[in-house]
Amino acid sequence: MPKSPALDSFPLGDRRVRRLGYGAMQLAGPGVFGPPKDHAEALAVLRAVVAAGVNHIDTSDYYGPHVTNRLIREALAPYPDDLVLVTKLGAQRGADGSWNPAFSAEALTQGVHDNLRHLGLERIEVVNLRSMFGHHGPAEGSIEAPLTVLAELQQQGLIGHIGLSNVTATQIAQGRSICPIVCVQNQYNLVHRHDDALIDQLAADGIAYVPFFPLGGFNPLQSARLDAVAQRLEATPMQVALAWLLYRSPNVLLIPGTSSRAHLAQNLAVANLDLDEDTIAELDAIGRQ
Ligand SMILES: NC(=O)c1ccc[n+]([C@@H]2O[C@H](COP(=O)([O-])OP(=O)(O)OC[C@H]3O[C@@H](n4cnc5c(N)ncnc54)[C@H](OP(=O)(O)O)[C@@H]3O)[C@@H](O)[C@H]2O)c1
Repeated sequence: MPKSPALDSFPLGDRRVRRLGYGAMQLAGPGVFGPPKDHAEALAVLRAVVAAGVNHIDTSDYYGPHVTNRLIREALAPYPDDLVLVTKLGAQRGADGSWNPAFSAEALTQGVHDNLRHLGLERIEVVNLRSMFGHHGPAEGSIEAPLTVLAELQQQGLIGHIGLSNVTATQIAQGRSICPIVCVQNQYNLVHRHDDALIDQLAADGIAYVPFFPLGGFNPLQSARLDAVAQRLEATPMQVALAWLLYRSPNVLLIPGTSSRAHLAQNLAVANLDLDEDTIAELDAIGRQ
């Protein structure tokens, strides 16, 4: 039986991170807006993440806004040397919780400084430029102007490395002509397989692929076949969905989000979940239905 790849690591910029990371978005209040329902539990989750050896946390200053970054700082600063914090830019929150595009040079520069201040850092290791051309998923459009701004902030030493989020293959190619791109963060999971070819192409180029909504996000994955496999493996459907992603390609880095230590423990236990070839084929078929 193949060994679980969950404990392997993959390069993210000039660091290597474990393939099981953590996404902090769920720590903000309902609708990713306002404070968490349980502040103490949010801090406990973050401390448990790092205590478990996770060294890759995904965040954004627009979660809350400012809420998750402040929680991360309160729970974890001074940060462990090997911890890679990854943020994203491209939106601002309205007073009503709306998500509004923010790609001007002023907004991006302000965004980097806001992230640094709220996280208590002088340099943020990775910043993703999150494209917002389409309402649902990636859509074509030039990213040259905003990416050039981020590349300048990188030259100034405020950003370590740059990634892209919610982008097409064309935008990734355009991005790579402007500056090195170390990761791509798009929606992808067991049933949402639009990026299958892209993942393999990025793997060949040594670029990390970080699926958001790995568990389905606001619409949790539901599949009778997934349930059946999980029952057979004595695991939960969510654990099997994460394990499948780990087996999908070595450049896939997981950032499942949770606001509970119980779910965090289940997600980290995926490190012990082995999938044989028949099971992987069975799970693969779900996305082709
Ligand atoms: N670039 C982008 O545009 C973008 C967009 C969305 C998200 N992201 C990033 O991607 C990360 C992951 O996405 P996500 O958090 O939205 O979605 P997700 O990881 O697919 O799912 C999170 C949901 O699953 C639940 N959950 C977590 N672990 C579970 C378990 N073991 N069993 C049952 N339910 C479980 C969580 O609820 P509980 O809190 O109750 O556990 C939450 O409702 C985010 O944290 C964020 O950092 C990026």
